[in-house]
Formats: sequence, structure tokens, C-alpha cells
Amino acid sequence: MVRQARGIVAAEVKPVVEETGVHHMDHIPRNPFELFKSWHTHQSNTTTNNLAANALCLSTSSKDGNVSSRTLILRRLDEDGFVIMTDNRSKKSKQLEENPKAAMTFLFINEADGLPLSRQVRAEGDVKQLAYNEWSDIYEKEPLFCKIRALVCHQGQPVDWQKLKDHHDSILADVQQGSIKLEKPDHVVAYKLFPKMMEFYETVGSKIADRVMFLRDGEIWESKRIAA
Ligand SMILES: Cc1cc2nc3c(=O)[nH]c(=O)nc-3n(C[C@H](O)[C@H](O)[C@H](O)COP(=O)(O)O)c2cc1C
Repeated sequence: MVRQARGIVAAEVKPVVEETGVHHMDHIPRNPFELFKSWHTHQSNTTTNNLAANALCLSTSSKDGNVSSRTLILRRLDEDGFVIMTDNRSKKSKQLEENPKAAMTFLFINEADGLPLSRQVRAEGDVKQLAYNEWSDIYEKEPLFCKIRALVCHQGQPVDWQKLKDHHDSILADVQQGSIKLEKPDHVVAYKLFPKMMEFYETVGSKIADRVMFLRDGEIWESKRIAA
């Protein structure tokens, strides 16, 4: 309480002090894939939605330096890279032909002790197309709508909605009658990003984030803490 000149008692106004701090990631493994796996597994186990752990932003660029980004699904995590699947007639495939390098960004938003847990993983490096025998299991497991989409959609091309729907429905009818098997069309391809750089950013609540960058030199990964 503050007693003022004419005896009026006013409540003391305390300055508002915002929450702050500097977040620290305690356990940094030598191999960035180990850290990715642990964050990815945590995200997969704490959300019911498969997209929350597997959606990533893929950035590619043309030979004259125009950049474009889009969301893709991580189809498989290997010991040395990230596997994605797409239509090789698409803009991203054209850009990857011109410049076989890409950047991926994963955003994992979660909760820790009632506070928002924000994690970002960035991976940058060379991209190679995989031979089909290296990923046929992925295509076999695709849901029906994806297999039909692969047949009826020419990614990125103008489309007549009704024709697309009719095409979809006729394939679906054939599948239901058991008269066709949905083989992988040639234009469906998988690529793997082999990162040379991986970076992990993490914070909880209102704290300055911690960041660790890994750089690959041959088979060896070196890591260092960098400012948020
Ligand atoms: C959640 C989500 C997941 C997606 N997954 C894929 C995918 O795995 N492969 C793909 O080719 N497109 C996927 N897309 C569509 C792409 O974002 C994009 O529209 C499409 O690949 C065409 O990109 P491009 O024209 O830059 O090549 C997804 C979109 C969303 C919103």
C-alpha cells in the first residue's frame, strides 16, 4: 500500500516482469540423425496426427536462382538421409534436375510442462533420385487415394475438375471390381536428401532458444552451438 498526501490509500503498482531465460539443450549426440530421431519419435508419440511429425518444407531452386518451397511428407528416415516422394513432372523435380541441392525444414510444435515446446530442424545438402527397388515398399504402402492420385493427376498442370473426378471414379470402380492393380506410374519418383548441414533449434515457453549446428566433413559430423 502507498499512503498518499491527503490520506488516500492507493494500491502499489508493481512493474510487470515478463518471463525470460536462456534455454539449454542438455544432451547433444555426436550424430545429428540420432537427435532428429529422438525429436521425430517424440513428436510422433505425442500427437495423433501423422502429419505433425512428418510434414516438412522443401526448398529448391532453379539454375537461375529462383527459389520455391512447398510442404512434403517424409516417407522414410535413413541413417544418411531423408526420403521424399513426388511427381517428376513437377516444378520441384524440374528444379532438382537443374540444381540437385535442397533444404528441408521440419517444425515440431508440442508442449512441455504446460508450456509450448518449439523445435525446428533444418537439413541442407545434395539430392539424389532413388532407384525403385530402394523404395518400392514405400509405394506399396501408399493409401488408395494416393495411388489413384498418381494416375489421375499431372502435378501442376491445369485441370478440369469434373474430368478429374470422372477419371478418379472410373479407376475406383475398377479397383472395387478387382479388375486392375494400381502399379506405380513411371513419373512417381523418390528422392533422398543427403545433408551436409543439420541444425536444431529448441525452446520452451518464453526463453531464448538454444541452437546447435552440425556440419559434415566426409563421414564425420562436427557440431557447434550458435546464437538464436
Ligand atoms: C501436408 C501436405 C503434404 C504434402 N505431401 C506431398 C508429398 O509427399 N509429395 C508431393 O509431391 N506433394 C505433396 N504435397 C503437395 C505439395 O505441397 C505441392 O503442392 C506439390 O508437390 C507441387 O509442388 P511443386 O509445384 O512445387 O513441384 C503436400 C501438401 C501438403 C499440404
